[in-house]
Amino acid sequence: MKPIYVGLCGVGTVGGGTATVLKRNAEEIARRAGRPITVKMAASRDLARAREVCGSDVEIIDDALAIARHPDIDIVVELIGGTTVAKDLVLTAIEHGKHVVTANKKLIAEYGNEIFARAQEKGVIVAFEAAVAGGIPVIKALREGLTANRIEWVAGIINGTSNFILTEMRDKGAAFADVLAEAQRLGYAEADPTFDIEGHDAAHKLTIMSAIAFGIPVQFDKAYLEGISKLQAADIKYAQELGYRIKLLGVTRRRDTGIELRVAPTLIPAKRLIANVDGVMNAVLVKGDAVGATMYYGPGAGAEPTASSVIADLVDITRLHTADPEHRVPHLAFQPSQLADLPI
Ligand code: HSE
Repeated sequence: MKPIYVGLCGVGTVGGGTATVLKRNAEEIARRAGRPITVKMAASRDLARAREVCGSDVEIIDDALAIARHPDIDIVVELIGGTTVAKDLVLTAIEHGKHVVTANKKLIAEYGNEIFARAQEKGVIVAFEAAVAGGIPVIKALREGLTANRIEWVAGIINGTSNFILTEMRDKGAAFADVLAEAQRLGYAEADPTFDIEGHDAAHKLTIMSAIAFGIPVQFDKAYLEGISKLQAADIKYAQELGYRIKLLGVTRRRDTGIELRVAPTLIPAKRLIANVDGVMNAVLVKGDAVGATMYYGPGAGAEPTASSVIADLVDITRLHTADPEHRVPHLAFQPSQLADLPI
């Protein structure tokens, strides 16, 4: 079966993770998608690194827009970040009839309305699971798993870098600047880490979840945001002595006057499950009228966790939007021979 050809734009932390996991789990991914998913082209400013990560079968160039226009590419993966080149790239890909997968929360939270309108006109998909909460499939949970519900509120720890900093300050008495440097070294932080520590990144993610949960346009400009940069070691210590944890919490909920969008450091009783979400881990709580309160937990940043979400979107698009009807893969895609291998 002809592979789906992917153009990988950006071969940094997440791009590298995506190329690696696509190669490592190629067989499993092909089975679930109904056909192989192959990186055919990659664009990067660092051609040598891109070649090393992607291997010699992939054509490496430095012009991402050329990928968006290339006739052989079926899905463009935007992992460049920011909203200048990335926005141009996504709109160009849509104009050329390509599906897009992006991890870019800033782009979706600030320009999503325009991007989705163009995608709808052109009949292509723009998927962004990796934009919110790293490896946690929370977009799919909101959109698919909870689709029967009237959502009442969504609350979460959705910035791994801030949570890592707060945890290390509390548990190890580490200095803010040292932990931030470590988060950068581990590939958790944004290119501009003020986005992490001042709450912008969490507000971007909250804006996206709010739009899906409540069926409203993305409206990042309406979000109230406050980060963790003004917190001091003493705040964290006193909170602990009083039986609380300080977490950077994003909350969106229905109010009589409209939808609230708020990101701020919040005192949470230490016995609550969400108060014990530590390090780079994220957690999202969603309250639906039918299901009640649900919680989603997992790594909120990092190369392979985020790649896991990028690839989930690649598989979804391949399975649902590119296959001929007779090649559609059912949801439960197994081969009978595998049953015998299960350790039961
Ligand atoms: N800088 C982000 C974080 C990366 O720390 O959560 C994942 O979106």
